[in-house]
Amino acid sequence: VLVTLSLLSCSHEAVVSDIYYGVSNYSFPEDFIFGVSTAAFQIEGAWNEGGKGESIWDTYVHEHPEYTPDKSNGDIAADSYHKFKEDVQLIKALGVKYYRLSISWPRLLPNGTSNNISTDGARYYRNLFEELLKANITPIVTLFHWDMPTPFMDLGGWNNPVIVDYFVDYARVAFNLYGDIIKTWTTINEPHQHCYQGYGADYFAPAIKSHGVGEYLCAHYLILSHAKAYHLYEKEFKPHQKGKVGITLDAFMGIPKDPRNFQDVLAVRSYLQIHFDLYAHPIFSAEGDYPTFVRQRINNMSLAQGFARSRLPYFTAEEVKIIRGSSDFFGLNHYTTYLMSPSEMEFSWSIPSMDHDAQVRMEQDPHWEKPGTDWLSVYPEGFRKLLNYVSDNYGREIPIIVTENGVGDKGQLKDYDRISYFNKYLYQLLLAIHEDNCNIIGYFAWTLMDDFEWSDGYLSKFGLYKVDFDSPERTRTPKLSVSSYRNIVQTRRINF
Ligand code: NOJ
Repeated sequence: VLVTLSLLSCSHEAVVSDIYYGVSNYSFPEDFIFGVSTAAFQIEGAWNEGGKGESIWDTYVHEHPEYTPDKSNGDIAADSYHKFKEDVQLIKALGVKYYRLSISWPRLLPNGTSNNISTDGARYYRNLFEELLKANITPIVTLFHWDMPTPFMDLGGWNNPVIVDYFVDYARVAFNLYGDIIKTWTTINEPHQHCYQGYGADYFAPAIKSHGVGEYLCAHYLILSHAKAYHLYEKEFKPHQKGKVGITLDAFMGIPKDPRNFQDVLAVRSYLQIHFDLYAHPIFSAEGDYPTFVRQRINNMSLAQGFARSRLPYFTAEEVKIIRGSSDFFGLNHYTTYLMSPSEMEFSWSIPSMDHDAQVRMEQDPHWEKPGTDWLSVYPEGFRKLLNYVSDNYGREIPIIVTENGVGDKGQLKDYDRISYFNKYLYQLLLAIHEDNCNIIGYFAWTLMDDFEWSDGYLSKFGLYKVDFDSPERTRTPKLSVSSYRNIVQTRRINF
């Protein structure tokens, strides 16, 4: 009887696990990189301290408090500027050996230009990096996580090609100051979200809504800026600093609303090409440049809308060459998946042109879990599909680093939804490594602690640590997900 019972309970456990989480014997490779991510504007605060200049996000939320539901700003945020030593200990307690963070461009260069380096700003990042190294944590640094110095907006921001040179100057300052200890850089975080929400719509700073043209100009010059910063490093810094430079792109995954309907299948293709491959193809494909589908679609749409020329600018042959292959790894941010089908959206100045050009209706299945953030439902299989999409389209030689993945909820300390999300998404990542042969070398959880979640203000909580935004001390408290993530990192397995 005993034997039967124990057999039964064993098999029962296995079945439950398989159904819900798919526990397997797969483990993360020995050298797999586990980390956690943040971004300067979302956590630092100290918006005008130490000579820091204003960023477009300061300006945007100061001038338009109504743009966030809680009428908030990043003035204090999680106050990491003052609490960075404590934060390094929080990272250490997670057991991860890597921390991805961003430099605030206007903290280092208050008015954006490289002839005026802030001593305090420079010292702040040096101290932070050294503190991390002391704790045996390797910093991975992003140069641009959306907080452009405000003075550049008078010139049109990323719609003005002159900004490319200013960005490269900024990159040079950062490589010069920190290249002795920083060996992995990402130039730009999520150019797509930045251009789409900030130049196609007013959900994000700089809220330009530049009438069908600005989103693509923004994309164009961000891609170029990235490539030029990459080559600057290759030529002037890599020989002695011996680091790597990459870029982080983002994608929602799409699945056809009705998999038997070919129009829905085409809608997924259209979405991915316009919102993702537009950025990925020039950099990561063998042939370079914008994908043919994107070029033709946007040219045709532009003509149909009465534009005399395509809204998508052209790279010169020389530019195509310098952009192609300009990334040592593929940084990928992913959060959720949408069901897609065609839509016949009318052209309108108020709709982001990428949406209009893609002609896709996006929705989420109401049965999918939605722990708190509006746009984010849990569909872990989409993650594996996206990892395969990247690997199939851009090859298995280029290593993929998942630079962000996580979920927003209402802020409970017992954050079972977050634990379950990480388990399920990481399980899909394991399948992509072991069953699909995807070349994924690292994973960064988003995010270390609750922070300023852009247009959601402080209402969406993505942190592994809770931050008490009502206390002047901005007290941090570990949520349950801290020990669960640490367990995965330490055992290199998902333990349900
Ligand atoms: C991606 C962005 O890089 C990050 O700043 C943001 O907080 C997360 N998505 C969650 O929305």
